[in-house]
Amino acid sequence: MSAEVAVIGLGRIGLPLAISFADRGLRVLGIDKDPDRLQAVRDARMPFEEPGAQEALDRVHAAGTLTISDRVADAACAEHIVITLGTPSLSHIEIDISDIRSALDDLLPHLEAAAGHTIALRSTIAPGTTEYVAGYLAKHRGFVIGEDIFVAHAPERIAAGRFFEEIETLPCIVGGVDEASGERVGALFAIFGAPVVQTSPAQAELAKIWTNILRYANFALPNLLMMDCEQHGANVFEVIDLINRDYPRGGIAMPGFTAGTCLRKDFAFSEERSNAPGMLLAVSRVNESVPLFLVEGMKRRLGSLNGRKIAVLGLAFKGNTDDERDSLAHKLVRLLERELADVAVHDPRVATPTPPFEEAVGLADAIVVAANHDEFAGSGPLRIIAELAGVDALIVDPWNCFGAKQVFAYVAELSAITNGQVALP
Ligand SMILES: NC(=O)c1ccc[n+]([C@@H]2O[C@H](COP(=O)([O-])OP(=O)(O)OC[C@H]3O[C@@H](n4cnc5c(N)ncnc54)[C@H](O)[C@@H]3O)[C@@H](O)[C@H]2O)c1
Repeated sequence: MSAEVAVIGLGRIGLPLAISFADRGLRVLGIDKDPDRLQAVRDARMPFEEPGAQEALDRVHAAGTLTISDRVADAACAEHIVITLGTPSLSHIEIDISDIRSALDDLLPHLEAAAGHTIALRSTIAPGTTEYVAGYLAKHRGFVIGEDIFVAHAPERIAAGRFFEEIETLPCIVGGVDEASGERVGALFAIFGAPVVQTSPAQAELAKIWTNILRYANFALPNLLMMDCEQHGANVFEVIDLINRDYPRGGIAMPGFTAGTCLRKDFAFSEERSNAPGMLLAVSRVNESVPLFLVEGMKRRLGSLNGRKIAVLGLAFKGNTDDERDSLAHKLVRLLERELADVAVHDPRVATPTPPFEEAVGLADAIVVAANHDEFAGSGPLRIIAELAGVDALIVDPWNCFGAKQVFAYVAELSAITNGQVALP
């Protein structure tokens, strides 16, 4: 076979994975339908930020172990076929596996029983999807799963920005539809050196989506607490400190914008067949309400936002990433625009071009930290804001990025809180 591994979908997950296999000497075929993505790989240029990826891409480019194609059918030239396609949720509280199905349809006529292909589903999928994929291959080609072809789920649980560190350390969960499928996919991923944990497909699917549901619910609690604190005139950071201080039974996380391409949609993978319908929808609603909560908080303090300049710092879905997909910062901007505010955005990391920090915050009536990038942390940026926006500007910092421990505070108050570190003009 001309390739040992084919990776279908060279996105945020598929491209680092394809590079990682190739960097370990496997002959890898990377497949994507996006011509810009393919051109970037051809030019040995990472199309998004992932620490360590550019250096690894340079190495595999020099070694010639990663080739690319825009045809899913070409994956049939590889023994192992890893699917890393997107799995969004529809607006019907239903997961959308149309990309996976379309890839299977492209592949079906080209798979050969004699080749002993393994199909590893790396995408996040709802419980039952691995068995569905095995059933689809059996139904349409008459393959005997576990003899002619092998199918397993090997979920990706790595956080953006930590791929190259966590691929070697995070236990790799493998749920094979039968023992042989689990063993083959486990052997493929064992190349990274992390422990491989064998289980059933449903348990692998549940483990992945509940990893994300746990995080999503975990962040909803401090976000709801932040709203309760506003209602009662309390300071959420002081309440969190009271909860967590020297308390031995776990702690509460910090508030912030909780979304992104995985957390925002993965709860739907449980919700579509939930035993407690609405419970996770309520969790989602809390996290989705945070931008509106901030807009309402600004209106309570500034009055109408019509014609007021509001600077939004950060468009990424969280700090220190260039990933803007499903970011609540964009939702915040849309809500502010519906208040007829004059919105200025600045983000030093994302691909969307934005004006410089000084231009965004200059003469702003309010400045909102929407993504806690390192560039915004500490008193330095606050000093520039004090100079360029003045003491009456309202700072909105649910992340406590500036370290002043106030969700809403005027620059003048922050100067006092930060013990004069921020000199007022
Ligand atoms: N991004 C993350 O941090 C993360 C973490 C864990 C799990 N996941 C899961 O991994 C999966 C992939 O996520 P992602 O963020 O890498 O998605 P993505 O959208 O960045 O990547 C998908 C890629 O597939 C390509 N593609 C779509 N249809 C295609 C087709 N028919 N043929 C060829 N290429 C096609 C797209 O062009 C894109 O490059 C999802 O199930 C996601 O939930 C993502």
